[in-house]
Amino acid sequence: EILSNEKYSDNLYRMEIFSPYICNNAAAGQFINVKCSPESVLDPLLRRPFGIFNIEKKFNVFSILYWVKGRGTKFLSELKRGDILDFAGPMGNEIDLNGDENNILLIGGGIGIAPLYLIAKLAGGMKKNVFFAAGFKDNSYLRWEKDLIELKINHAVLTEDGSWGEKGLVSDYVWNNIRSFKNFDIYCCGPRDMLKTLQNIYKDRNNKVTALLDERMACGVGVCSGCVVKLRKGKRGFSYKKVCKDGPAFNLGEVIFD
Ligand SMILES: Cc1cc2nc3c(=O)[nH]c(=O)nc-3n(C[C@H](O)[C@H](O)[C@H](O)COP(=O)(O)OP(=O)(O)OC[C@H]3O[C@@H](n4cnc5c(N)ncnc54)[C@H](O)[C@@H]3O)c2cc1C
Ligand code: FES
Repeated sequence: EILSNEKYSDNLYRMEIFSPYICNNAAAGQFINVKCSPESVLDPLLRRPFGIFNIEKKFNVFSILYWVKGRGTKFLSELKRGDILDFAGPMGNEIDLNGDENNILLIGGGIGIAPLYLIAKLAGGMKKNVFFAAGFKDNSYLRWEKDLIELKINHAVLTEDGSWGEKGLVSDYVWNNIRSFKNFDIYCCGPRDMLKTLQNIYKDRNNKVTALLDERMACGVGVCSGCVVKLRKGKRGFSYKKVCKDGPAFNLGEVIFD
């Protein structure tokens, strides 16, 4: 059952859903597959994937943060408190946050911040030192900063138009502060160009860099190959993996962006 569907800005919404099952079984990095049409309607046929943004265990409430892109997300934005959300999940694999380092750098671009928020919360709860670097086109994610402040996580915001935080790209910020983040495990999620730049930045460094991929999906359960990603294997080889079944988190250094 939907408890709220708050409009954060023109296209950005946060939906809170009551679900003891998700709250007891979901972990960082996982997502849900949502039917984005009324009960008796099958169009659009394919469910839409959304990362789990937050889990509030004591209230049995979890939330998703979503950007309205097309028909499915438009439908979601029109749902109200009391409506029932038809979803399947948790899907995908849990991210193990027990990395070598006690320091975690989260790098999010646009709606890529959504799954990273839960990582920030859980890693913060494990007493890890978490820093969140987030980049946006403009200030349409401003309301999200309040959520981040609730977690008491150190962070930097960059916007391309300079309307909020520092003006610039989050990848430039990471490059300019590369020494400060030397002993950090890194999790990133965002547009391909951002991920490609980060791959270059971290090519010859020792950080463990994990990318959460939000490729387009179809079946969402490993059957159709609609979400395949190409990964480097050894020096010259490569293999294919399915984002929905094998991911959504992968070692960024292994991802081949064609
Ligand atoms: C594992 C995973 C986690 C995700 N988590 C979130 C999340 O937390 N919040 C969120 O807002 N979105 C998330 N997404 C993306 C979200 O699933 C899509 O935005 C959504 O399916 C769009 O559906 P639609 O019907 O509104 O748009 P459509 O009508 O299907 O498409 C509208 C436009 O958006 C483009 N588009 C659709 N899906 C994607 C995509 N995955 N990446 C880039 N462009 C796309 C289409 O090419 C088209 O131009 C995630 C995707 C994956 C695979
Ligand atoms: S979406 Fe069908 S295999 Fe991943």
